[in-house]
Amino acid sequence: MSNKSRIKNGAVVCAGGDYMKQQATFDPVIEARVEELLSRMTLEEKAAQMVQIPYRMVPREEALDWARKGAGSFLHVLGDDAREVQSIALSTRLGIPVLFGIDAIHGHGLNEQATIFPSQLAAACSWNPALVEEMGRVTAREVATDGLHWTFSPVLCLGRDPRWGRVDETFGEDPYLTAVLGTAIIRGYQGKRLDGNESILACAKHYIGYGEAVGGRDACDTEMTYRKLRDVFLPPFEQAIEAGCATVMTAYGSIDGTPFTASEKTLKTILRDELGFDGLVVTDWDNVNSLVERQHVAENLDEASLLAAEAGNDMIMTTTAFYDSAIRLVRTGKMPESVLDGAVKNILRVKFRMGLFEQPEKRGVPGCLGCAEHLEASRALARESIVLLKNNGVLPLAPTVKKIAVVGPNADDIRAQYGDWTYFTHPMPNPEHPPVRPYVTVLEGVRTLAEASGAEVVYARGCGVIETPEDDLDAAVEAARDCGAILLVLGDCVEQAGEFRDRADLSLSGRQEELFLRLKTLNIPIITVLVATKPLCFPRVAEGSDAVLVAFNGGMFGGLAVAEAVFGKLNPSGKLPVSVPHHTGQIPVYYNSLPGWHGGTYVDQPAESLFAFGEGFGYARFAYDNLRFDEKTLTLSVTLTNAGTVRGAETAQVYIRDLVSSVITPIKRLIAFEKATLEPGETRELRFQLKPEDFSLVLPNERRVVESGDFQLMAGTSSKDADLLSLTFRLTVTN
Ligand code: NOJ
Repeated sequence: MSNKSRIKNGAVVCAGGDYMKQQATFDPVIEARVEELLSRMTLEEKAAQMVQIPYRMVPREEALDWARKGAGSFLHVLGDDAREVQSIALSTRLGIPVLFGIDAIHGHGLNEQATIFPSQLAAACSWNPALVEEMGRVTAREVATDGLHWTFSPVLCLGRDPRWGRVDETFGEDPYLTAVLGTAIIRGYQGKRLDGNESILACAKHYIGYGEAVGGRDACDTEMTYRKLRDVFLPPFEQAIEAGCATVMTAYGSIDGTPFTASEKTLKTILRDELGFDGLVVTDWDNVNSLVERQHVAENLDEASLLAAEAGNDMIMTTTAFYDSAIRLVRTGKMPESVLDGAVKNILRVKFRMGLFEQPEKRGVPGCLGCAEHLEASRALARESIVLLKNNGVLPLAPTVKKIAVVGPNADDIRAQYGDWTYFTHPMPNPEHPPVRPYVTVLEGVRTLAEASGAEVVYARGCGVIETPEDDLDAAVEAARDCGAILLVLGDCVEQAGEFRDRADLSLSGRQEELFLRLKTLNIPIITVLVATKPLCFPRVAEGSDAVLVAFNGGMFGGLAVAEAVFGKLNPSGKLPVSVPHHTGQIPVYYNSLPGWHGGTYVDQPAESLFAFGEGFGYARFAYDNLRFDEKTLTLSVTLTNAGTVRGAETAQVYIRDLVSSVITPIKRLIAFEKATLEPGETRELRFQLKPEDFSLVLPNERRVVESGDFQLMAGTSSKDADLLSLTFRLTVTN
């Protein structure tokens, strides 16, 4: 028996009570106003307040009727339509303003004038919370300028299974990185005050474990214990709530047979009682109906409504039948009216905090949609989202390369570059809507920069992401034949990602690999770029390419950033926020796995991922040295040197391993990072102030504790052992 297992009751560092104290938002004046308004509401008005109406999915007259009844919220309604709904709501007996919600997921993307940012996954490659916060701030300003109040963002699910269709919406696979970037974007959305003219509500979603659905199958059951839920999946939500995130959305899925929408344990015990959340919980789309139709835990909508309301959902997204059910349940004595009172209070509290009773329509900054400052924020993030994973010296392209072939399905495809949640890609009804400038595809970016350097560019699509009769590999090979370099832009398309669009096979689809192999026969350097919603399995292409860049969905300027990296106008600084598998059958391949006898190996696949979490380099060369740990102050320091010849940015990563613990702990776990820009020859000491929580684990009894014993601390350029300096030390917990 290890020394640690004998000290099972180590210091409790994260008990629920501590969090309650951190809720700084409690305001007695607002509470009094909430109580007073609630006391004047009828049962019908309370039930209506809890319903969120899908404006585009119901006939206009029906939507307006809901406003007359006092529906608490509408989603996906813009401009004059929203104003009409609001003016009806304000003229009702109590005049409670409507809360307007929208999916502004990577920018206010459902408005065609808006600034489209990199997807969350692409943004996460930057490992730059300041830029991510700015993305939130710009998005909030654009949403507020449309008069709206609330974005259903950020996604705090972990993208640990790339088969899942929504990995692009996550900040990747790691809880710590997700928490840091998640809280950054929440700060950006909500600003200093919720009633600020440019502040909107953030929504931490999907609570909880949604990305962990079995087999990567969207919205299915998760195989998870509460210990694991608290250890791995809860921390980003804890941090979001500490950061003041005002709303939370429940997940579609379920845990051990209990739908998250019906889970009192996650919604009441954990979220309210332990984390002290006093904001608004909204279900996801039609979750209440799903309790009947898909999950079969309720016979009818009355039963489902009772389950959802009693479990702790405040606002019911799109299941409008909840209104009649709730009234009937109270009238027949099956549900106490106090259940509705609790939910309505949470809704009204948020409306008061937003200042909606004083100013129902946010004003934002007229004319700011897609303005120069906002576009610059998107450009800056796109530039830091580029990840260089391989370079045999071909990059940056030498000025002697006078003819460049740009080939591949995603070289000039703005839909693939944007990814989902925009006005003309999934999930909007009109995918053929033409994109609005100024976006820059890879081809356009390369053409502009090549012109400046006097190089010629030839373009051939070669093939589609999905095989089509137009595929013409011969034409691509001919076009590239006398070129000095080939830029091959591969990836996936929006039809292969998003809700309910999971993939069983993550290899390059269509004839993309064949296209690569044909081009390879030309013996010309090939730079492969992946423009994709997720990590794809491309081992042969990666091995055969002279350079590999990953750009995920870079938004408006993703293509420009790739071109700048290729020509050396930009020194890539992105790092992977997800592991890239060799093969779909290797999944799960996330870096922070638990150790076991199998050791991660298969007889037909290597043990490691193709590219690891945290990997990515640039045109500078960074050296790590002199790792030290001050046990008294819990300060870790390491010396970073730019040993290259150009200025560059490096994200230094700190990992921990608990060497012997009473439960099995991950082989390593990210606990800190810092992105630093260094001139050639410059040396800097990076210092990381660690916290007791960094050494903690969750026991089978669901308590988070720190146990005494030996720990390993590692720092370096990626999560790979070979990239990390390491030291061990002994921690003694004194109770
Ligand atoms: C369903 C999605 O799961 C969720 O992320 C989104 O915010 C809502 N629909 C509203 O569109």
